[in-house]
Amino acid sequence: MNSEHKKTQAFEQVLDAYVSRRGFLRNASSLGAAALASSCAISTQESTSQSRSDLNPPASLGFKELDHTIDESFSVPEGYQSQVLVRWGDAIFDGVEAFDPRSQTAKRQLQSFGYNNDFIGFVPLPLGSQSSEHGLLVVNHEYTIPELMFPGSPKGQKLSREQVDVDIAAHGLSVVEIKQVDGVWQRVTSSQYNRRITPDTPMQITGAAAGNPRLQSIISKDGVHTLGTYGNCAGGVTPWGTILTGEENVDGFFSGDYKSTDEADNYERFGMFKRYKNWGEYIDRWNLDKNPHELLHMGWIVEIDPYDPQSKPKKRTTLGRYKHEGCNVFINDDGHVVAYSGDDQKFEYIYKFVSKNKYDKDNRAANLNLLEEGTLYVAQFKEDGTLQWQPLVYGQGPLTEKNNFASQGDVYIDARRAADLMAATPMDRPEDVEVNPVTGKVYAMLTNNSDRKADDLNPANPRPHNKHGQIIEFWPENGDHSDQRFRWELFLLAGDPKKTVALYHPDTSDRGWLSCPDNCAFDRLGNLWICSDGAQHSGIADGMWATEVSGSHRGLTKRFMRIPIGAEMCGPFFTPDSENLFCSVQHPASGSSYDKPSTRWPDFSDDMPPRPAVMVTRKIGGGRIGS
Ligand code: FEO
Ligand code: CA
Ligand code: CA
Ligand code: CA
Repeated sequence: MNSEHKKTQAFEQVLDAYVSRRGFLRNASSLGAAALASSCAISTQESTSQSRSDLNPPASLGFKELDHTIDESFSVPEGYQSQVLVRWGDAIFDGVEAFDPRSQTAKRQLQSFGYNNDFIGFVPLPLGSQSSEHGLLVVNHEYTIPELMFPGSPKGQKLSREQVDVDIAAHGLSVVEIKQVDGVWQRVTSSQYNRRITPDTPMQITGAAAGNPRLQSIISKDGVHTLGTYGNCAGGVTPWGTILTGEENVDGFFSGDYKSTDEADNYERFGMFKRYKNWGEYIDRWNLDKNPHELLHMGWIVEIDPYDPQSKPKKRTTLGRYKHEGCNVFINDDGHVVAYSGDDQKFEYIYKFVSKNKYDKDNRAANLNLLEEGTLYVAQFKEDGTLQWQPLVYGQGPLTEKNNFASQGDVYIDARRAADLMAATPMDRPEDVEVNPVTGKVYAMLTNNSDRKADDLNPANPRPHNKHGQIIEFWPENGDHSDQRFRWELFLLAGDPKKTVALYHPDTSDRGWLSCPDNCAFDRLGNLWICSDGAQHSGIADGMWATEVSGSHRGLTKRFMRIPIGAEMCGPFFTPDSENLFCSVQHPASGSSYDKPSTRWPDFSDDMPPRPAVMVTRKIGGGRIGS
């Protein structure tokens, strides 16, 4: 048997077992070898195998789809209009001089919107209202691309000290008050709430790992007080109006030899990939030779109260330390708070946290501490369609001294290793994990995993060399999110169904297929909106798609948005009325340089480089987005 045949067989076995067990119908003849190269949409039990083209169009998503063309523009369907809300370099305070990319200073960058906007949270003003016209926009600035930021296109490792200071100031988050007047959004630069949070902002480490001696570093004698956040990818807004931001690819900010530190095993398991910053050349804090424990301060979920600009952000160690994509909170029927989070690296895991204390809608001060104590779990997806949440509790099972855990704090600091010992299911890069507010089901975006081999498939990750990713759906059978036993199902297998085995509604159009699902949001009807990161590798523009999640149009994805060349799309977020959709265009023109950019979006001016920007989209004349 040749190896190609073996691979096909392994794939068939896994998917076929899964598909028959779940009772899925297929509209192609079989999932044999031929199906790998031909069209093979799979519909769900709720569907029928007959063509649906004669049925009515989706009731709740009636927009006209865009096509897949990669170009320099930002596009939305007919009948919609978009506005650039805020770009890298835009002042967020009064009295700041105009942005000049040729004379950047750290001081000015600290008063301006940062680079590479990722997650977006919108919280209404005043606090407690449901305003869709006035609020605070909180945005992550995940990382920078010096060769697109600075004239002369310096590569990441060759920044001058002055450039490093600007670079540092362009990371973190921005809080910006915004207001809508007659359908047009404005930034309020005089706002008392506006704030930049950066790698130098004082923060507090909380939860069982706080004060752990392993967290002592040259900026923290007590392992409690620390500075800053960076590598902030996605996040979530809590029901009590705070922002959770995920520290993701933080290893790349450090220089020095991690293998010589006494945390070498932890760092190895954490994943030390490309070193793309030379901050450690000038500042000891980011040099592991001089400050070997600093990297343990990173990889957490940070909770920020945007309504209190003086508040100190808190690193929530109870949620575990790994490469957090984001974090989304759901209030269980019994009042316990459940937080879901993904670890965005190939073969990493999906986690949930259940709070010890209960949410009290009348006591915000108490809610601000809900993420302080509770139980962390990691997901094990089983072949029989159940999902077991394995607790990461010190002293239980293998999480003892025998395996070098001396405390619950150690379990949080070494969360990945603890999860390995609990036999968690290695996933294809978990990105956003979010609860549908209408159905209570949870959706995880799994972006892709080119390293998935044919002999390590599992039903939740059923494709080898997974270029396109999938979306998985899971839920507690009795509706109790604190349960350890859930059920799960594949919601979508991405990719072009003409070229790969894919899972969509059979009526998904040539424009409706997607690749590399990354961030997501739900509108007020519970429709799923999916952003992509990496679809351009399949010859289609990155952007946003929407689908209903149940009923006869489940899995019928339609393309709603297209973004400029080089960019990924992230941060989708709706105002409470679902009439405004915020989204992030991150790293437009990536792969090119300041001196020769592949696009100058969004300014298209010869003296302005491409700029990451937050866009807001509305229906012309108003109305629910997608209607
Ligand atoms: Fe920063 Fe998970 O992408
Ligand atoms: Ca992301
Ligand atoms: Ca999201
Ligand atoms: Ca991503």
